[in-house]
Amino acid sequence: MSDSKTFALKGNICYSLDQTRLAVMEQAYVICENGLCAGVYQELPGRFQGIPCTDAGDSLIIPGLTDLHLHAPQYSFRGMNMDLELLDWLNTVTFPEEARYADLDYAGQAYRIFAEDLKKSPATRACIFGTLHVEATELLMDLIEETGIKAYIGKVNMDRNGSPKLQEESPRISVDATLRWLSDISGKYQNVKPILTPRFIPSCSDELMSELSSIQKSFRLPVQSHLSENPGETAWVQELCPYSAFYGDAYDHFGLFGGEGCPTIMAHCVYSSDEEIALMKKRGVYVAHCPQSNTNLSSGIAPVRQFLEQGLSVGLGTDIAGGHSLSMLRAIADAVQVSKLRWRLLDSSKKALTFAEAFYMATMGGGSFFGKAGSFLNGFSFDALILDDRRFPHPQELTVRERLERLVYLDDGHCLTGKYVAGRKIF
Ligand code: GUN
Ligand code: FE
Repeated sequence: MSDSKTFALKGNICYSLDQTRLAVMEQAYVICENGLCAGVYQELPGRFQGIPCTDAGDSLIIPGLTDLHLHAPQYSFRGMNMDLELLDWLNTVTFPEEARYADLDYAGQAYRIFAEDLKKSPATRACIFGTLHVEATELLMDLIEETGIKAYIGKVNMDRNGSPKLQEESPRISVDATLRWLSDISGKYQNVKPILTPRFIPSCSDELMSELSSIQKSFRLPVQSHLSENPGETAWVQELCPYSAFYGDAYDHFGLFGGEGCPTIMAHCVYSSDEEIALMKKRGVYVAHCPQSNTNLSSGIAPVRQFLEQGLSVGLGTDIAGGHSLSMLRAIADAVQVSKLRWRLLDSSKKALTFAEAFYMATMGGGSFFGKAGSFLNGFSFDALILDDRRFPHPQELTVRERLERLVYLDDGHCLTGKYVAGRKIF
């Protein structure tokens, strides 16, 4: 829902122009007109004289951040049980917790906490996994709708290799539940939209994947899933899908790997081969890079420089609860940090990410999955954050660019004082 009114925010404005260039305007105005950005100006132009203006003082103003991959039902156990690798973590921690969302009272309690915290976080947009449960996923959608955050939310499909309490009994049951979900929510929301969510190849039988492909085509749904996250997982996919040349090819086999009319996000891509990366480029598949999760689950370090060189679309994700922090500011710093370890330990031929590149991924990179979002360029959705760094005094006068980087690294969750999505003030 966008406010129709026109207004300005005044402060120290920082935003990406493209993958490498950061624009900084001190004590400038960013204009919102009908929910869209109508320019950043040092002085208010004549036609905007007299519009309401919120003066953010010496605070920084940046575009909203997009969390391109996270699991709402896992928020309850973030920061716990971190001594496991992916497949053991799924079986011993994740699946038992997700099974609880069959109980709508529990789902309500847990999802209310999640929605409240996401609202207060620096994310203005998000791509969210629910669980396989239809009612709980609809409740999650109701709650996120109310926050004003724009989100794609998926009811998860999983009909194999789950647990007795967390698995759909057949492809048919999974498909019927998905169709019921899509029918229940049709036309219901302004801010949230459905996204088809096969959990990952090991969770979805070939028959289910074929059926989901039909659903994708008839409902023209975007798709989100996991790809090449962990060595054991990747080897397992080769056993499960002997017909596939590589992991991504298994999705592609069913037409669920990008391409015309099928916008797709794949989380992780730590072990993507050159072939896999080339196919992602060809199909326009987005990478959700989740550095904190890849560290916590000992997954590895994704070849992000290679993704950028190949021209892939890359955004950042917290991957709650693989990642423990809901802060997309933290994800920016994590992306830079792990890229330095990759350069030092794995591949010195590929440079580490710069701060500007990681900032771009968290704003424009991931934001572009939603259309024009993640910058203050003209015509972009007016998604903005006001960040106050006065809690970190400094003996010298710092530039705004220095202050932005420092805030991203130092923020302890208390810098964010204002948030707008599509022109609507969230707080
Ligand atoms: N692969 C399949 N399911 C999951 C999940 O819940 N989290 C992560 N990180 N990877 C997965
Ligand atoms: Fe995930």
